[in-house]
Amino acid sequence: MTSLTDRLALVTGASSGIGASTAVQLARAGARVVLVGRDRPRLEQTRSRCPGSTVIELDVRDARAVERALSPLDLDLIVNNAGLALGSDKLPEGDPEEWSTVVATNVNGVLNVMHATLPALVKKQRGDHVFLGSVAGRQVYPGGSVYCATKHAVRALYETARLDMAGSGVRFTTVDPGMVQTDFSRVRFRGDTARAAAVYQGVTPLTPDDVAEAIVWAVTRPAHVNIGEIVMWAAAQASTTVVTRRT
Ligand SMILES: NC(=O)c1ccc[n+]([C@@H]2O[C@H](COP(=O)([O-])OP(=O)(O)OC[C@H]3O[C@@H](n4cnc5c(N)ncnc54)[C@H](OP(=O)(O)O)[C@@H]3O)[C@@H](O)[C@H]2O)c1
Repeated sequence: MTSLTDRLALVTGASSGIGASTAVQLARAGARVVLVGRDRPRLEQTRSRCPGSTVIELDVRDARAVERALSPLDLDLIVNNAGLALGSDKLPEGDPEEWSTVVATNVNGVLNVMHATLPALVKKQRGDHVFLGSVAGRQVYPGGSVYCATKHAVRALYETARLDMAGSGVRFTTVDPGMVQTDFSRVRFRGDTARAAAVYQGVTPLTPDDVAEAIVWAVTRPAHVNIGEIVMWAAAQASTTVVTRRT
């Protein structure tokens, strides 16, 4: 096993959901964790559960700020997780401003974090870079247009990183979950909690801890093993469009 003791890990989107659970589990496994997000009070909540962690308040869309804050860090492990969806309108009815926010976060944000953090791993010729993809990066669904497009882009970045950095010693992993119960749907539906709750009605979705466990498992494999792609579904979800609900 690869030990995480005293390894420096960065988790973006650590204020909520999958990122918060991953930070907690990495800290439990011995890593020192740098927690990134925009919501300082919620980042502080995560910090209180992660001994030895630090908080960086940062918008991943801001390339200069990301470079300034993250490039000096001597990182061993990056979980490039921050992301969101906005709306589920059919393509012709979508809001171009919301599209820009989703693309800027899920694509530019992921790239900004890669650009600022990969040199540290290359320098020491080892380390892990984990992408939070989605099953939406493998299948589309009605109303998912721009979110699905960004997660297809994340998958392309994962595949390209493997090629461009072959021989660098850096291990790349993409973790692609189906439905996970987090703030994701509340954010997507602009704070409409009833609509968000309906997404999970009659289903037992994945939990953020389920996903965090998969990430920690992947990065603790022996040095000669690279877990490339993890696709995980709730047992009741057969595809992005087929979910069996209890009545
Ligand atoms: N939930 C699902 O069903 C599901 C399924 C597949 C994949 N995913 C992916 O998993 C990742 C985490 O989502 P989640 O489900 O855990 O949702 P969540 O609970 O809403 O968490 C999203 C996180 O992203 C951060 N974030 C958003 N925009 C940001 C920005 N501009 N700069 C910095 N941080 C930003 C948020 O932090 P701040 O608000 O503090 O900035 C928050 O911590 C996303 O990439 C999502 O696409 C989710």
